[in-house]
Amino acid sequence: MHQSVIVAPSLLSANFGNLEADIRMLNESKADWLHLDIMDGVFVPNISFGIPVVKAIRKYSEKPLDTHLMIVQPERYIHAFREAGSDMLTVHWEACTHLHRTVTQIKEEGMLAGVSLNPHTPISGLEDIIDDVNLVLLMSVNPGFGGQKFITRALHRITELREMIERHHADTLIEVDGGVSRDNIQQIIDAGADAVVAGNAVFGSQDPSAEIAYMKRL
Ligand code: DX5
Ligand code: ZN
Repeated sequence: MHQSVIVAPSLLSANFGNLEADIRMLNESKADWLHLDIMDGVFVPNISFGIPVVKAIRKYSEKPLDTHLMIVQPERYIHAFREAGSDMLTVHWEACTHLHRTVTQIKEEGMLAGVSLNPHTPISGLEDIIDDVNLVLLMSVNPGFGGQKFITRALHRITELREMIERHHADTLIEVDGGVSRDNIQQIIDAGADAVVAGNAVFGSQDPSAEIAYMKRL
């Protein structure tokens, strides 16, 4: 049976003045995961929100929390994000000196471990860790902001990663993050993605819930 793409709306584009309303809307929607973008103003040139806000989101969300750490030294906060309620924790390849150790610690805490790659980071850098990773988050924009334009080169990168995963007989999921919209989602799925993040496409639409349903039908 054709499995529909996993859709993870990013709360970065939600209404921060009333997050509860947006989370309840997502609970009622066909969204699979909730994507939480954590930015420290050092790894990326922007600051978003942190652990207390994740805790508050957990209180209202019925969906798994897919937490994307755009921070330096993410290994310092693995336990804190578990405590706050994260189900999946993704760290950046570029931010981890001891990536294998960090991935192992995330799994030991009982979360799914993700590794994210910036648009220029070679896919081949995952060759010796792909078997240990539950999820690869491929950036299709330079991380830091919502609402940016999809970098087309990312499509080749999805396919290259898919080939690596198959070569390894691994069950790693591919999630694509940045500039995903109804105009490019089919190409992203065809290239080999299992999951997409959608911020602006969902929250910038007149009917966010219908936009999610549209993506799920593909
Ligand atoms: C970018 C974030 C993304 C962002 C996606 O740094 O990692 O998750 O919120 O937003 P859109 O879908 O608007 O590009
Ligand atoms: Zn993200």
